[in-house]
Amino acid sequence: MPESIPEFTSRILAWYRKAGRKDLPWQQRPTLYRVWVSEIMLQQTQVTAVLPYFRAFMARFPEIETLANASMDEVLHLWSGLGYYARARNLYKAARRIQSEYDSRFPTQLSQVIELPGVGRSTAGAILSLSLGQRHPILDGNVKRVLARCFAIPGWPGRTAVQRQLWELADTLTPERYVAAYNQGMMDLGAGICSRGKPDCAQCPVADLCVARSQGRTKDYPEPAPQKRLPVRSVQMLMICNSSGEVLLERRPPQGIWGGLWSLPECPIDVNPEAWCAESLGINARLTDTWSIRRHTFSHFHLDIRPAELLAESIGDCVMDGDRRVWYKTLKPIDRGLAAPVKRLIKHLENKTWGE
Ligand code: ADE
Repeated sequence: MPESIPEFTSRILAWYRKAGRKDLPWQQRPTLYRVWVSEIMLQQTQVTAVLPYFRAFMARFPEIETLANASMDEVLHLWSGLGYYARARNLYKAARRIQSEYDSRFPTQLSQVIELPGVGRSTAGAILSLSLGQRHPILDGNVKRVLARCFAIPGWPGRTAVQRQLWELADTLTPERYVAAYNQGMMDLGAGICSRGKPDCAQCPVADLCVARSQGRTKDYPEPAPQKRLPVRSVQMLMICNSSGEVLLERRPPQGIWGGLWSLPECPIDVNPEAWCAESLGINARLTDTWSIRRHTFSHFHLDIRPAELLAESIGDCVMDGDRRVWYKTLKPIDRGLAAPVKRLIKHLENKTWGE
């Protein structure tokens, strides 16, 4: 190995060769398209959770073209349960753009890849390095943690100055050759060994270079974001059933939380749900039960959901435009993208109505 390669880098490379993951499905045939989809799925999500979704996605959308020609609803459906649905919407938007602007060929320049919806600098670097071996540094949450600890970089990485310093360091340490092995090694090290809660320093190839460890301060790096208390929003989610045991679903507007997913009608927490149904939906419904509150936490607020069960006694002129509202047969397998807490509520309702 030439002298110019930092000790840190050669350790990561040797470790990756010995212990890194090389058998993941997107590593078998690392095309730009497959690596892109895998990197988007892997954002905020563990490899084991991604595997079945990646396989199903590739079986249904083997090429950019098939993805671009699908409907957003179908893409969201395949994504259902993986969370962070903006990723799926962006993936779909990007596929449409690649189809129209690049003749369905995934772009190969960093500046072009960064421009795609849902792809930042780190993801673009990962895609081009892992699939084409181009030399680009990466800096996802895992890599930030490894670098912040090993080089004892103070400050919260969300701050611009700290971010800049970490990118510079990442760039300096990225080798000219074997970039794919190095970048994958850094991500694997961050995900598996240099974990947030309990780093397994005994297994770490750079433990003896790690400044935070030598000071017994791995817990202090990277510095956490300044604490903010999340605001709480409360809603009632209405499970309105008709006489055939179907429940009313509504599609959420494309913007905002759960954009484009199917959900239950919501009414303000302090409003009588029977009155709300009559006024807003034109449905005469009788409240039959209310359930305890369940909390769903987003990055920027807590959503306290109070589920209310209602039986529709007469359905006036409720707009049943199938693109926006449907009566959903609870016992049918769910073939639409549903928000995760809604899926749980419907499952619960199903068990309650029809037995386990
Ligand atoms: N997280 C983001 N990208 C990843 C990758 N390629 N391998 C493991 N974890 C990741």
